Amino acid sequence: MALPENIVLPRHIGIIMDGNGRWAKKRLLPRTAGHVQGAKAFRKCLRHCIDLGIECVTFFAFSTENFKRPPEEVNAIMKLFSDYLDEGLDMSEDDVVMRFVGDLSRFSGELREKMLRMQSETAGNHGTVCCLAVNYGGRDDILHAAKQLISEGADPDTLTEDDISEHLYTAGLPDVDLVIRPSGEQRISNFLIWQSAYAEYVFMDVLWPDFSENDLDLALTEYAKRNRRFGGL
Ligand code: FPP
Repeated sequence: MALPENIVLPRHIGIIMDGNGRWAKKRLLPRTAGHVQGAKAFRKCLRHCIDLGIECVTFFAFSTENFKRPPEEVNAIMKLFSDYLDEGLDMSEDDVVMRFVGDLSRFSGELREKMLRMQSETAGNHGTVCCLAVNYGGRDDILHAAKQLISEGADPDTLTEDDISEHLYTAGLPDVDLVIRPSGEQRISNFLIWQSAYAEYVFMDVLWPDFSENDLDLALTEYAKRNRRFGGL
């Protein structure tokens, strides 16, 4: 489908990449095959966001709880991250600003270094900001911000919501306007809970590895129909 020319687009989209395991199970494949396909869907979706001129998109790639999965699965996902970082951005992505949001301290030193390198190498770019939420939890994000503010000696009498926003892993990025969750689940799962306080949610039945450009267009069309009031009338 083609999007109407003057459609209202979100500035910041959050995407919960869910359903990789079920995608693999349906095909009698190991769960890790679902993650491999999920990584391809991620690249395809990012390219479409770039083509549409989306300012910022955050993909939920690994939650703080995902470390509880069997080591084979965790290692397979770490390998996908590592391969992605080694491959680097391709030509269609060369103006992307990459950010890794989450507590990076639990990753191996090598992986963390690669993430920080990609982050600093793309920091001066001017295109779509792509955040990968890794070892990310919304509550952990807020706790981490609170600890930072306390260590900086923040004054409780003058502390503002903006101060908190500016200490989250997503500091400097606009609030999330649209959260897309594929795979039929209708949960927030601790994803960008502060940043998406006024977001629109679009839940879709497609499993993440099958998520196509058309699915993103459908979600954007649904978003454009919503009447956002931010608590007003
Ligand atoms: C949730 O689906 C998905 C994950 C925990 C991992 C997501 C990781 C990727 C898509 C790969 C990312 C790679 C790069 C390079 C960004 P699930 O496994 O919980 O699915 P299920 O609910 O069907 O079991």
